[in-house]
Amino acid sequence: MSSLPEFYTGAPVDPVDLRFREEFVAELWETLRTRHLVLTAARRTGKTSVMDHLRDHPRNGFSTVLINVQDLTHPADFFQGLLDAFHDAHPDFVRDQLAAGWKLVGGALGKVGEIGIGGFKLALRQSDPDWRENWRQHGDRFLKQARKTRVRILFIVDELPDMLLNLSREDAALLREFLAWFRTQRLNPAPAKDSIRWLVGGSVNLAGTLDGLGQVDLINDLEDIPLPPLTDGDIRAFVTEMLGGRGVPYQEDVPPRIVSRLGRPIPLFMQMATQDLYRLWKKEQREIVASDVDAIFESLIVSPGARTRLQHYYSRIRQYYADRKRSISYALLGQISVCQSGLGRAALLQVTDRVLVDSGIELPSHERRQLFNQVLLDLENDFYVIEVKEGIYDFASGVLKSWWRKYYA
Ligand SMILES: Nc1ncnc2c1ncn2[C@@H]1O[C@H](COP(=O)(O)OP(=O)(O)OP(=O)(O)O)[C@@H](O)[C@H]1O
Ligand SMILES: [Mg+2]
Repeated sequence: MSSLPEFYTGAPVDPVDLRFREEFVAELWETLRTRHLVLTAARRTGKTSVMDHLRDHPRNGFSTVLINVQDLTHPADFFQGLLDAFHDAHPDFVRDQLAAGWKLVGGALGKVGEIGIGGFKLALRQSDPDWRENWRQHGDRFLKQARKTRVRILFIVDELPDMLLNLSREDAALLREFLAWFRTQRLNPAPAKDSIRWLVGGSVNLAGTLDGLGQVDLINDLEDIPLPPLTDGDIRAFVTEMLGGRGVPYQEDVPPRIVSRLGRPIPLFMQMATQDLYRLWKKEQREIVASDVDAIFESLIVSPGARTRLQHYYSRIRQYYADRKRSISYALLGQISVCQSGLGRAALLQVTDRVLVDSGIELPSHERRQLFNQVLLDLENDFYVIEVKEGIYDFASGVLKSWWRKYYA
């Protein structure tokens, strides 16, 4: 029993416990032979867990470096962070090879001992008072040094879309410069001839983000590999292992009931619900039945834990969608949440028209339709809804749908 994986209810799954991703991980390594990749998927679905696995179990001779860039606001921070992560992961390599003949980094390494914990990053930051103006030059040099070593290096950059949004808010021109720089670096030399690979990812659809900023052309060389959703079979296997493996007795219809309550699953909620069933068994020491699953989901949705994890889906729209799109999005999601199995385009367009009329906005019909299409595309790109059948849209996650219905319909 001791080899059973833990329940993970928020933190990325430790690479030794990662399941259901074997084929996907193999596909990523295969594609990385010749391409740079972008990995996007909805929140809490397991992107970082996969990235951690790539970092810890590199293949095809790659060395890996992973950073999370969610809170960064300048390309200078990006390179400092990347160099620091590199140093954390491969200190000897950075000292002996990457820094060879590179004064900026060699000097910083010399000071690490004096400063103590976090020393390298601090020393690096102090190594050039004009880092922010010189980011491009340092970035070029960094990659040149890395290529000179001839070691294959995979840079894994988590939450890049967030960093790009931060950049766009600080300085739109800077965003464009950074994207253009990054694109040039990815194309010269061509990836198949380059010793460096990039795998970038995040919870916001990169193409959607950049399309909104009018710059999607700057990333269209990246191969977009979506993280596959867990299948019904995966969920049943998970429940069987996590409950059965712990000696919890349950009726046959328990795993399928979990499948249907999850809807298209957010793996985090699969973990939380199964853990709650396990706790119920520990407390009551009786066989688990399907109605327990229903009760667990009802309380999961109103639990503070779920609330903090779902709230960002709501807030994100307020934060990132401009006025009109925001009120239309809220209205559409509210309507979809109360429908059994999704809503058709015509009905959704009517909802949009009503919002516009209520807000006193008059638009010619082709503009209304254009706005509507754009909103629907954003909601799809940001993983709120999916087209379940042709022209019919429903929430991408069953849990999110129930939660939305409860609080925002
Ligand atoms: N392969 C998996 N099997 C079971 N559960 C998983 C799996 N991958 C992820 N999870 C669940 O999803 C949660 C979030 O995982 P992870 O942090 O990797 O996702 P993420 O997509 O990076 O999330 P975020 O959007 O917050 O960055 C984990 O705590 C775990 O509950
Ligand atoms: Mg993550």
